[in-house]
Amino acid sequence: MSQAYKITEHHYDMIVVGAGGAGLRATFGLAAKGLKTACISKVFPTRSHTVAAQGGISAALGNMGEDDWRYHFFDTVKGSDWLGDQDAIEYMCREAIPAIIELEHYGVPFSRTEDGKIYQRPFGGMTTRYGEGPPAQRTCAAADRTGHAILHTLYQQSLKHDAKFFIEYFALDLIMDEEGVCRGVIALDMAEGTIHLFRAHGVVLATGGYGRAYFSATSAHTCTGDGGGMALRAGLPLQDMEFVQFHPTGIYGAGCLITEGVRGEGGILRNDSGERFMERYAPSVKDLAPRDMVSRSMTIEIREGRGVGPKKDHIHLDLTHLDPAVIHEKLPGISETAKIFAGVDVTKQPIPVLPTVHYNMGGLQTNYHGEVVTLKNGDPNSVVPGLYSIGEAACVSVHGANRLGSNSLLDLVVFGRAVANRCAEIIKPNMPHKSLPASSLDKSLANLDKLRFANGSTPTAEIRDTMQRIMQNDAAVFRTGETLQQGVYKIREAFKSFGDLKVSDRSLVWNSDLIETLELQNLLGQAVVTMVSAENRKESRGAHAREDFKTRDDENWMKHTLTWIDDKGDTVIDYRPVHLNTLSSDVAYIPPKERKY
Ligand code: FUM
Repeated sequence: MSQAYKITEHHYDMIVVGAGGAGLRATFGLAAKGLKTACISKVFPTRSHTVAAQGGISAALGNMGEDDWRYHFFDTVKGSDWLGDQDAIEYMCREAIPAIIELEHYGVPFSRTEDGKIYQRPFGGMTTRYGEGPPAQRTCAAADRTGHAILHTLYQQSLKHDAKFFIEYFALDLIMDEEGVCRGVIALDMAEGTIHLFRAHGVVLATGGYGRAYFSATSAHTCTGDGGGMALRAGLPLQDMEFVQFHPTGIYGAGCLITEGVRGEGGILRNDSGERFMERYAPSVKDLAPRDMVSRSMTIEIREGRGVGPKKDHIHLDLTHLDPAVIHEKLPGISETAKIFAGVDVTKQPIPVLPTVHYNMGGLQTNYHGEVVTLKNGDPNSVVPGLYSIGEAACVSVHGANRLGSNSLLDLVVFGRAVANRCAEIIKPNMPHKSLPASSLDKSLANLDKLRFANGSTPTAEIRDTMQRIMQNDAAVFRTGETLQQGVYKIREAFKSFGDLKVSDRSLVWNSDLIETLELQNLLGQAVVTMVSAENRKESRGAHAREDFKTRDDENWMKHTLTWIDDKGDTVIDYRPVHLNTLSSDVAYIPPKERKY
């Protein structure tokens, strides 16, 4: 099969797949360490989804009041509903401070306080004094365009260092040898229609989340979990896929993000009678409760008939009491988005909002160095040589069952930097590449041909629409055994319908039909794994809220789910323990307790 395609071979020390915040931080970090590094991206780097991040990046700088990275550690463990690994959380929260200072020095145009320090706003679940003090002002912001500011700066840094970019290349598959070592990646140059083999001593998957498995998501249409899809096809499990975050404030109908920073600046969620209902659900932090709680509270308000609008099916986010000057300075982006997508002037009218899929807590299982690990011979932390993952594609796990807002941009830069440091320790520049058997690409190219020449009767868009509606309905904010069992049945049927796929365009040059089909294949595997893992977990924890198992069950379920899927769609589930140890005595392990705010 592979003889039919001319293969162009490239040799690098390191390949990074994905050019969002994590991918770029890793790319220039690796290049700066002297490793010959290339970054492959299916979109131009500054169009990566990080550009859409709004509210900010967390770090206990204490610029706007009392703070301490140990409070950040506590909040993140509690926010994760005790599923986060405490060693990794300690690493992230401690490293947050130097990581932000570094970003500042690289040139990120942060908003400033009167005395010139980085401006920080409150965000959900971020508190002081181990949850006993007032909300922390911990989220460093560049107005409400923080992701944009960071992404452009990181791309500039990547250009400054000697990193090579392969832009508008779609990564097809990992090249794994018989010993389970990752030896590179095969990719399609979408513009030229040519196939490329990238040999490397390390491959970093920084491909983002798979939000587009759902019908309504704040994620870009490019968020198709391509790294997770490649990992599943390589026989690796994905971890904690049942935990899907709904952001409380997606614009009703359009799904576009309205940052949590709005509530950080004083915005209030109101029901049909104008009541600030979060006071009933989270009396101490109110609208600044973590996202899982706010999304559930909004859903309950709507279900109990207190929603707004003619169908009483959404909620109002009210900023009209805020000083227009504050809105202009701190929230210019969402003012524009609300005008365009909801037709409202935020200084005069509330924004119609609804919980919308925003983030995947699950992903490739890694340790805090960014090394992919798996369950092998009874060892749940066995390193997969040559394979790394960071950012939303990965599950370190620092977010556990529920991520706190502004911990995502942080995760990108902290673990982007960590993986560069780790690789510099174990990979020496210009090491020779082992030869690969001639058949190494056959499976991937056979898959490409199967999709390219698919001649069934169901177009890609139809299967995608079916998948997205199943996920939206049956793996929602609230879940029950019944909806999940139906969801498992239906999503397995959608997976099988891929066997009846119809692709109309057979060409290789800029074939968007083929690219969307490759993306759908990646999404489908992750959709099945998500639904199966959700049906399997018989408790409520973080973003996984089951109405038939309403409480957290630490005795039976304080463990990470690992789920594999084969070509036929059959799944296998296993587990690994949560890391309850910390890395140093600077913080003590936080024992589980009821999560109240
Ligand atoms: O609401 C927001 O600005 C999103 C931030 C995040 O997901 O971390």
